[in-house]
Amino acid sequence: MGFEFNNETFRNDFTFKNSERAIRRFPFPFDRDDYMYSVNMEPHVPGRPGSVFEHAFDVDEHYLAEMRDRDLVLKEDPLRCQSLPHMELAGWDLLELIMESKARDYPHWFALHKTGNRWTWINRPMEIEQTFTFLDPSTLPYGPMEYITRQTQGDFTLQDQRDDNLWIEAGMVTTQADWSLDFDIGMGFHEWHAPVPLAHEKGVFDRALKFLLKLQHGAPVRRFNWTHTVDPLLDTSPENYPKWGPTRTEMTMENLGQRMHLRVELQTLWRLPRSNAIAFPIRCYLIKYDELVTVPKWARRMHRVVRDIHPELAAYKGFLRNRDLMTAWLAQYDDGAPTSPGWWPED
Ligand code: HEM
Repeated sequence: MGFEFNNETFRNDFTFKNSERAIRRFPFPFDRDDYMYSVNMEPHVPGRPGSVFEHAFDVDEHYLAEMRDRDLVLKEDPLRCQSLPHMELAGWDLLELIMESKARDYPHWFALHKTGNRWTWINRPMEIEQTFTFLDPSTLPYGPMEYITRQTQGDFTLQDQRDDNLWIEAGMVTTQADWSLDFDIGMGFHEWHAPVPLAHEKGVFDRALKFLLKLQHGAPVRRFNWTHTVDPLLDTSPENYPKWGPTRTEMTMENLGQRMHLRVELQTLWRLPRSNAIAFPIRCYLIKYDELVTVPKWARRMHRVVRDIHPELAAYKGFLRNRDLMTAWLAQYDDGAPTSPGWWPED
């Protein structure tokens, strides 16, 4: 694949960084110079080779470090992974989806051998070989959702569908942008989205729910979400707010390039075949401002988006107090030249 897995941390000494390759393939989420909420969904079909869209579940240089970080979060707080009893079948659906996708897309790292319901899963980077009986939880060390999401980057939630609504009733959530699975579990689509400003009034959630209720198996969709995080901390959870909330007060013109990170979530939505549930993988990508501005188009555009964003969005996303400083820092990299449409780098 032309890269090695980084030995890096997302806490304490924060040694996380992106290689040149990872910067070039970063999923920059702005296809124009401004931003407002919309029902931004498109088919999750394979994209450009080398891009994060090439495969169903992207595996990148941060894989092993992210899995180590997840394990640490779960040791401190097991409630980051929960599954209500009726969601077990959806967990098996998810396990099957991920194992089949990774074995197909990354055959040098992953393999899945099936003899009837007796399956053997091989994960070479994590040095795992596991033989188990599909749909028999007693043959795995964890429940099916927990088992596979301990080996897959990104957070995951599973939504049951009933009464024309979606209910968040299982999840593995250790890399979240300030929301809590333990708080949200059992809620419906509009309830868990209640804190989001402006989008309800614009009908974004009504339309998104209507679309999702009709989502078909085999036709996944994707969308972006984004925010900012001080330091490359994956676990910005409400549970840990005292650890990361105060760091927002420490930003200066001198440290901003190193400490301010754009945090992008590549979210995909999958109808699952047996359970009829919807799987919602939320894959988080981090890039520090110093790395981001090495791509001139992204530097110009980031400046304009941050400068012009609606204050309620900046407040909800947690960077209102630093917005002026961020704008001043980014302005150094914006010569006012026009930017091309779309998010790909220009050069
Ligand atoms: C069923 C899958 C989904 C789940 C589980 C989910 C979950 C969430 C959660 C937990 C939040 C944070 C709310 C908070 O502040 O506590 C959120 C935010 C949001 N969601 Fe969803 N969501 C889903 C699908 C969608 C879809 C399809 C859209 C499309 C319009 C959407 C749009 C948004 C927006 C715009 C935000 C605000 C994000 C920000 O500005 O940082 N969500 N979602």
